[in-house]
Amino acid sequence: MLAIIGGSGLYSLGEDFELQRQASPDTPYGETSAEILQGKWQGTELAFVPRHGSGHKIPPHRINYRANIWALKNIGVKQVIAVNAVGGIRADMAPLTLAVPDQIIDYSSGRESTYSDGLDDMVKHIDFSWPYSAQLRGIIIEVGLQLGQPLVASGTYGVTNGPRLETAAEVARLKVDGCSMVGMTGMPEAALARELEVEYACLALVVNWAAGIEDRAISMPEILANMEQGMHRVKALLLAAAKLVQQ
Ligand code: HPA
Repeated sequence: MLAIIGGSGLYSLGEDFELQRQASPDTPYGETSAEILQGKWQGTELAFVPRHGSGHKIPPHRINYRANIWALKNIGVKQVIAVNAVGGIRADMAPLTLAVPDQIIDYSSGRESTYSDGLDDMVKHIDFSWPYSAQLRGIIIEVGLQLGQPLVASGTYGVTNGPRLETAAEVARLKVDGCSMVGMTGMPEAALARELEVEYACLALVVNWAAGIEDRAISMPEILANMEQGMHRVKALLLAAAKLVQQ
């Protein structure tokens, strides 16, 4: 089964999601961000969880990424498409761009970032050279082409701790490092999915130019407006991707 992890701006799949099961599982790592919803979205079975909770209550550094991924795995999820709102750094990442990153640089800190704590099992080192599932990325890119939705099919996602946005100098450094976009929730989610052998890809919606890329401050109302506008396209892509994943 496929799961969608909703990010900022995506707290539900809408009225055409037919809810069949709903659970707040007690995981060895604590509580999930919200109840895990299972049901059919226009006939396609999937699971959904909003990582910030149902009303954006949980900031990026406080999300229980371990509980969320563990709970999804536990109900039989084999693939995850994660939706993340990001700031654009690279020239092709203007606001409202949809992107499917292929790399990550993790600048976050202080997060519970592994199941391999050395407490009850051998330490497990995972290969993370290519952090996202090539197959799932391919599906998202393909449905983008099918639906005529332009997608940027590569990019490095720099993950900062937040919840504040970056300084212009921090973004300049991310750019030198090779980051194309910056967000706060890409990690440790992707690595945890890899540890549990869940296929994982990210669909990123650019909601602002990152700090200092434009010569003005970042406007929160503009971010919210872009989120609202972009999520319609995100949902259309997710639905088409979910149908392909099921086949
Ligand atoms: N920086 C970090 N996270 C974000 C941004 C940003 O500019 N926009 C949306 N999420």
